[in-house]
Amino acid sequence: MQKLSSRSLAPDFGMEISGIDFSKPLESDDINFIRNAWVKASGVLLFRGQDITPQDHVRLTSYFGGVYDKGATANPVLAHYYADGFPQIYRVSNKKINGKPLGREDAGTYWHSDSAWDPAQPRGSILHAIEIPSAGGDTMFANMYQAYDALSEPMKKMLDGLTAEHSLAAAVLRTSYAKEFSGKLDEASKKNAIWPVVRTHPYSGRKALFVNPGFTARILELSQTESDVVLELLFKHSTSPEFIYRHSWQLHDVLMWDNYCNMHYAVANYKAHGDRFLHRTTVLPD
Ligand SMILES: [Fe+2]
Repeated sequence: MQKLSSRSLAPDFGMEISGIDFSKPLESDDINFIRNAWVKASGVLLFRGQDITPQDHVRLTSYFGGVYDKGATANPVLAHYYADGFPQIYRVSNKKINGKPLGREDAGTYWHSDSAWDPAQPRGSILHAIEIPSAGGDTMFANMYQAYDALSEPMKKMLDGLTAEHSLAAAVLRTSYAKEFSGKLDEASKKNAIWPVVRTHPYSGRKALFVNPGFTARILELSQTESDVVLELLFKHSTSPEFIYRHSWQLHDVLMWDNYCNMHYAVANYKAHGDRFLHRTTVLPD
């Protein structure tokens, strides 16, 4: 067994784990340690100094569930952002090679939970920092357990039992998806899912608020006006600084999050300070 140690990144949120090397296959004790830590840390785990290959990254991802590998075929609009020969690896970058974008530049520049519009929503993602700017380009995470816990009892009572529609079409209207899906709103509107507003995490058993400004279209049991106002309140509440961990990237950081209890936001303020290039894999529910 490797000697693992951990420290909190924020109060009751996020954990940095040291003493592990992802360039080698992991032993089952270490896998169990990290799987448990992923639940205990409210979804955010950090590992510094992991100079890994795409193969290592895919192997690491497989320890936590299925590995999404439909990159080249599932969504033609985004297919060219996947790494050559690795349909599991999505490239996030502002870089251009021969004038062509290396990866998706404006990925996630708004609060969201990845693919919330998918009825089989992936559990999480794992990012590897291959190139980072000298300043900026942080990623922020919201702890949606803490956001739920901090609500008043009358508000919890009102929200428990409500459901919301999440759709890609909502994101096309509100976010950087507008660029890729312009004129394809019909296609985007086919991608939607209904989730409880208060979602019980399948592993922790804890309740998390599950609405996000990127994809949540409306609360189905409320009138449109009521839904608009309640969602605005919940978006404001759940992005309070008290519930946020802001990650400042170092080269070869590996960072993972859990879509069922986190939102995240990529801060696009770095472009005068160098290039940013990350590889991302996606963990399917197991
Ligand atoms: Fe994202």
